[in-house]
Amino acid sequence: MKVIKCKDYKEASQIAGEIISKAISERPNIVLGLATGSSPIGIYNHLIQDYKDNKISFKDVKTYNLDEYVGIGRDCPQSYYYFMNEHLFDHIDINKNNVHIPYADPSCLEESCKRYSEELENTVVDIQLLGIGANGHIGFNEPKTSFEQKTFIVNLTEKTREDNKRFFDSIDDVPTKAITMGIKEIMNARKIVLIATGKNKALAMQKLLSGEITTDFPASILHKHKDVVVVTDEEALSLVNTL
Ligand code: F6R
Repeated sequence: MKVIKCKDYKEASQIAGEIISKAISERPNIVLGLATGSSPIGIYNHLIQDYKDNKISFKDVKTYNLDEYVGIGRDCPQSYYYFMNEHLFDHIDINKNNVHIPYADPSCLEESCKRYSEELENTVVDIQLLGIGANGHIGFNEPKTSFEQKTFIVNLTEKTREDNKRFFDSIDDVPTKAITMGIKEIMNARKIVLIATGKNKALAMQKLLSGEITTDFPASILHKHKDVVVVTDEEALSLVNTL
């Protein structure tokens, strides 16, 4: 696991954005695994700017998102489908047929998970972008999830719902379930770029960088992956003495 220590969110977004942008120019038909939440927004802004500056094109890029809430429609601003259009896809030349986001309609959840898993089985994700939850979740793989898990319907922990309530009017509006890519599928990516910044991520970074691998802290499995870059900042590393 390589750790890049940046000054702040802005610098971390730039560094992680450059890694992804360079990979797109080297391999125009790259397959990207994408994340939502606050962490990747700066990276997406960087990619949009590189597209506008004609440095990269998304014409042949394929994407697979990590997760989607159950119980809110795709037209709802809090859905991850909406998020991805708002923060990336509507600003670049991606072919929307190449975009994959779990379809989390309550009427067909099992079927959606099965289909998403099958699609991932037939694909190699070149770069998987990850954020990290305060409880160590990656995607929505909450603590105690098996490292062998494939795409599934997850019950979100109270901690995750609490952390994400900032995107909703109240905690009662935060969905209790989501579909998430499983840890096994995340680990199949050729390269993983994890971005973690700010003091809210300090405990998570301390646990991640302790090196202990345990299902109590799902992101710890990343130590077993051969090509992980953690792009982080001073605040997130404030409890880590060795960096
Ligand atoms: C989002 C996702 C989550 C987030 C994590 C951190 O698609 O998979 O694992 O990356 O909850 O969220 P932020 O970036 O909002 O702190």
